[in-house]
Amino acid sequence: MAVTKGLRPFRPAPPRGTFRAMVNRVLAHTGARYPIIQAPMGWIARSDLAAAVSRAGGLGMIETSSGEVDACRAEIDAMVAAGLPFGVNLPLMFLRDESLVRYVADAGVRFVTTSAGSPARYLPLLKEHGLTVYHVVPSVRAARKAVEAGVDGLVVEGAEGGGFKNPDEVSLLVLLQAVRALTDLPLVAAGGIVDGRGMAAAFALGAEAVQMGTRFLSSAESPVHGNFKQAVVDADETGTVVVNRSGNATMRVLKTDFSTGLAATGGPAASSLAAIKRLYFDGEMDASLASAGQSAGLVDAVRPAADIIRDTMAGFRRALADAQARAGLLED
Ligand SMILES: Cc1cc2nc3c(=O)[nH]c(=O)nc-3n(C[C@H](O)[C@H](O)[C@H](O)COP(=O)(O)O)c2cc1C
Repeated sequence: MAVTKGLRPFRPAPPRGTFRAMVNRVLAHTGARYPIIQAPMGWIARSDLAAAVSRAGGLGMIETSSGEVDACRAEIDAMVAAGLPFGVNLPLMFLRDESLVRYVADAGVRFVTTSAGSPARYLPLLKEHGLTVYHVVPSVRAARKAVEAGVDGLVVEGAEGGGFKNPDEVSLLVLLQAVRALTDLPLVAAGGIVDGRGMAAAFALGAEAVQMGTRFLSSAESPVHGNFKQAVVDADETGTVVVNRSGNATMRVLKTDFSTGLAATGGPAASSLAAIKRLYFDGEMDASLASAGQSAGLVDAVRPAADIIRDTMAGFRRALADAQARAGLLED
């Protein structure tokens, strides 16, 4: 593969026997105990959820995609006051001006993910203030641009994940391998992961942490209405649909009468978000679009964030050992 300026090919791990213990780079960048990140989700990723995740050893993230600038500032302040490790997501396309970026840079935030736009835009400002910046990428092209811009890491987001999506869908399985071949920056895998088995798969493909949206959206500490959480629990792996494939607001959402109607007519998704709070907080499932990933099919209960993190780490270790055992059986 041709190596573009600024990109370094991924170096495989040294052979067994010469391996030295290393600090996981995502843990060093974030201050979290475990490489499990709660996804930023508009209106949902606020301090109640983020603090529950961070207290349990994961990394809570605060959203700013709701556009509720004052509320988001207060949520960031609450996390700083709690003294917990956390991060903030800056969806570049949706930021009205630079003020929120400056606020984040000055507030004592250590870790930021940028998404939906060019990471080059605010990178110098954020780096000047000593922040670590990962960019969310849905394609190899976007990953290459972000690496060239000088980001510290990437969140590699597969098309099976919930929320806004690239219309050119690429699964996490393919995307993670392709991005791993491109760069040796730390990678966070997002899309389709709810437990230790998914986490082990992501690490086998080159990830150094996982980000879970749908799983934490339906956790006990998530602020959304019980109807939304139950709809995630009830959904099977075919329970989501992609709406607005041809527009610039392509989204993966739960199948409801509202979303399947929209998908059939190709109607605009963006205007359907006007009543999003009625869905999120009043439980009116046909008021708007209920973002969620195919991973909804793997979520079978509403559980506290601490249980999710504890069981994911235990399942991760078990899945790695099981994979090795199965490989051993196959060796003959
Ligand atoms: C309800 C919801 C809202 C989301 N909002 C955002 C957002 O504001 N910014 C962002 O970068 N990603 C957002 N995402 C995508 C998540 O960050 C994450 O990549 C995705 O949920 C991973 O797939 P999973 O749902 O299978 O875990 C959202 C996802 C969901 C389910």
